[in-house]
Amino acid sequence: MLIDSFNRQVNYLRISVTERCNFRCQYCMPEKPFSWVPKENILRFEELFAFVKVCIDEGINKIRITGGEPLLRENLDTFIQMIYSYKPTIDLAMTTNGYLLKANAQKLKDSGLKRINVSIDTLQPDVARQIAQKEVLTQVLEGVNEARRVGLKVKINMVPMKGLNEREILDVLEYCKARDMSVRFIEYMENIHAKVNIKGMKSDELLAIIAVKYHFEDVGFDTHSPSHYYRLDDGYIFGIIEPYNDAFCSTCNRIRLTAEGLLIPCLYFDEAMSIKEAVQQGNIAEAALILKEVVRTKPEKNRWGDTEGEISKRAFYETGG
Ligand code: 5AD
Ligand code: SF4
Repeated sequence: MLIDSFNRQVNYLRISVTERCNFRCQYCMPEKPFSWVPKENILRFEELFAFVKVCIDEGINKIRITGGEPLLRENLDTFIQMIYSYKPTIDLAMTTNGYLLKANAQKLKDSGLKRINVSIDTLQPDVARQIAQKEVLTQVLEGVNEARRVGLKVKINMVPMKGLNEREILDVLEYCKARDMSVRFIEYMENIHAKVNIKGMKSDELLAIIAVKYHFEDVGFDTHSPSHYYRLDDGYIFGIIEPYNDAFCSTCNRIRLTAEGLLIPCLYFDEAMSIKEAVQQGNIAEAALILKEVVRTKPEKNRWGDTEGEISKRAFYETGG
């Protein structure tokens, strides 16, 4: 079992399989980065899988594939299939922007994937074009439908932003509610890669908007989920992810791996260790030592709520957010 120095059990690995993306979301990657990680620096699926096996043997039982946009990586379904075959009981999920989902949903389902999270920041085609800087909405919505049709469990993420999609909090909530899909509103996290003038919305502002139409009660946190949950009178539950809140960190159970093999104990800080050499040399014992060291050095909490804190310059599209 992997236990950190604050007595949290780490059982959740997020793997960013590529930092590349086919969207340019304003809160994440408004410009194409000056340079992408060269292809030869990206770990091959066999190499990533060698490390995944170490993690599973040490107690990881939940894996999420992220990006960038993970579906840009060729043969992703074979990687998922490798993980699934090694441990069929693993909770295997993916976060995607949904653009390539329609064509891939069945393959993903067949490979052992169970759940996906899709970003729907708006239901207005022109607002979607403005946020992602590309004509995306129809294709994303079709992707969501297809994923549901093939039996993947779908959750929706929305990042509410002032002056962009703030009028659509209820629309997105109702779109999800009508389909019995979970929605989580994510407070915008400041980062140096985002467009400079983005203004996020905090949980109290979102709740005030929802309260105009619905009565709800606070049902608190689920262990190990960063979401703060609320229940409408008809039983529908929605979540808000509040990175500025300390409760977010006290039950954190996750570490992150980038496509280049950097193992990161906390999204907020720069600290990380590379497993690349170890896996490329087939040195599994060394990879296991690095894993344990990264877990041991996992910080107690992020410093988003702290004006003194200096956030990591690493982009969310490298770490999978
Ligand atoms: N703040 C909050 N959420 C973000 N995401 C990406 N960048 C940010 C940010 N700056 C979210 C996206 C997507 C997931 C991958 O991370 O909405 O759902
Ligand atoms: Fe791509 Fe996701 Fe970043 Fe949007 S938020 S640019 S979809 S990685």
